[in-house]
Amino acid sequence: MGYRTRALVFLAVAGLVGCAGPLALEIALTDEAEADYRTHVVEGEGGTRSAFLAWYARREGVSPAEFEARDEALQSNPFERGDRAAIALGAAVYAEHCMSCHGFDARGGGPEEDPAHPAKDFTSGIARLSIDLNDGVPPHWFDAVYDGKGPMLADHDPPARAMPAYRDELSRTQVWAVLHYLGSKQVSK
Ligand code: HEC
Repeated sequence: MGYRTRALVFLAVAGLVGCAGPLALEIALTDEAEADYRTHVVEGEGGTRSAFLAWYARREGVSPAEFEARDEALQSNPFERGDRAAIALGAAVYAEHCMSCHGFDARGGGPEEDPAHPAKDFTSGIARLSIDLNDGVPPHWFDAVYDGKGPMLADHDPPARAMPAYRDELSRTQVWAVLHYLGSKQVSK
């Protein structure tokens, strides 16, 4: 089932039980964008990070090595708040890598969430305040995704935190994009 279909199913259920709308579905991922990300990144050569760097480099018209150097030099958030292309890319990253724990609507409760270590609810009042105070993305979120966060899991091989580290799996550009997706609920239209 594509992301959009799941989104519609979710909206229908949310409407029936009368809860608030899910995160940023007004700019949700299209099936084409999801398929594009799967083909070029998830099923691409050499793991998601290098497949993404090669794919994005082509889109930017530079060599993969040049784009990788640019990505590694990123010291801070490269996107403006509300950048629709970044949010759309971030939605694809989220659906692929984060939704399993943080849930369809980014409130936590995804099927792979460990009940002993609840995943973050990105729609809480505190999260939304932090998003606003930081102009779209709280910078410490980057560190949580890149380096992992929370307690070390017992019996996990290789060792991992409750919030896994993505530095080997995702480029900095992908991480900033997914954080813009999470922050996008606060973008006024
Ligand atoms: C295996 C389950 C799991 C997956 C997959 C996962 N997370 Fe998490 N995440 C967690 C848990 C658990 C926490 C809470 C950690 C803590 O502080 O104890 C967390 C915390 C976070 C935080 C920190 C929030 C804060 O306020 O400090 C961010 C940001 C985050 N996750 C983003 C992501 C993104 C983006 C992805 C996908 C690239 C992702 N997570 C994938 C489980 C997961």
